[in-house]
Amino acid sequence: MSEPERAWHRTYQTIQVEDRGAVALVRLNRPQALNALNAQLMEELLDALRRLDQDDAVRAIVLTGNGRAFAAGADIKEMAERTVVDMELEDRFATWDAIRLIHKPIIAAVNGFALGGGCELAMMCDIIIAAETATFGQPEIAIGVIPGAGGTQRLTRAVGKSAAMEMILTGDPIPARRALELGLVSRVVAPEVLLDEALRLAQRIAERPPLAVRLGKDAVNRAFETTLTEGLAYERRNFYLLFATEDQKEGMRAFMEKRPPQFRGR
Ligand code: CAA
Repeated sequence: MSEPERAWHRTYQTIQVEDRGAVALVRLNRPQALNALNAQLMEELLDALRRLDQDDAVRAIVLTGNGRAFAAGADIKEMAERTVVDMELEDRFATWDAIRLIHKPIIAAVNGFALGGGCELAMMCDIIIAAETATFGQPEIAIGVIPGAGGTQRLTRAVGKSAAMEMILTGDPIPARRALELGLVSRVVAPEVLLDEALRLAQRIAERPPLAVRLGKDAVNRAFETTLTEGLAYERRNFYLLFATEDQKEGMRAFMEKRPPQFRGR
């Protein structure tokens, strides 16, 4: 018997979405353009992420790129002749901004170039792991602009002012090992095991109680938005809130009864 159709099963033109049980694997799929992030791709990606976010059976998402790139940036060919009025009216980064509203954890498995908007997209994810062959950069300066999808803010928060300035003002990319040293990524692995590692990590998170994962992600993200005092108060509220969940009772009882917990996401 074939599996029942899940609400997010769709055919997209610029991405692929695969069902890996509790984990969904999303692949950017414009390899001929090094997965340059045009408007259609970003709309399809946001649509898929929103559908996955709504499906209780999906507990974590892995995002990767087909071919040589994770993504080589916003689509330069699409942007080149735009006027400032076009840019204002299209408000193309609104689609990008909406990715931060996804509640499920997203792991970027960076397989190759993560440049410009590609680096910015990876930084919008919750965890970045990289192949040894991956490169990260904000090369916009070389084409007369600066990062426009969060690079000046997220990269600076991730690696500090000096390294961010170097990358943004020279436009020169850094290899994965350097990205690891700087704390931009949490691990670097051989290219042939990248996807397995990312899926294993996602699966590990998928085994955890979903509401705690959701509020944990929410609280960590809050650290980038607020003062320490406010952030600590926010964390405390999320911590207390979890005492309203069945999974908190189950998790603590299972610990005391020395048995594995059965989490239900409630
Ligand atoms: N937009 C559109 N097309 C792109 C692209 C991009 N960002 N990056 C690569 N491509 C296309 C190339 O034009 C080429 O297409 P054609 O075969 O039709 O010519 C194809 O992908 C393969 O690329 P290359 O032949 O250039 O491959 P390479 O191995 O010689 O070089 C590279 C690889 C160094 C990544 C080079 O492609 C490159 O420099 N790309 C642009 C990187 C960049 O500047 N990104 C920032 C974009 S602006 C941005 O992202 C703004 C923002 O903040 C949101």
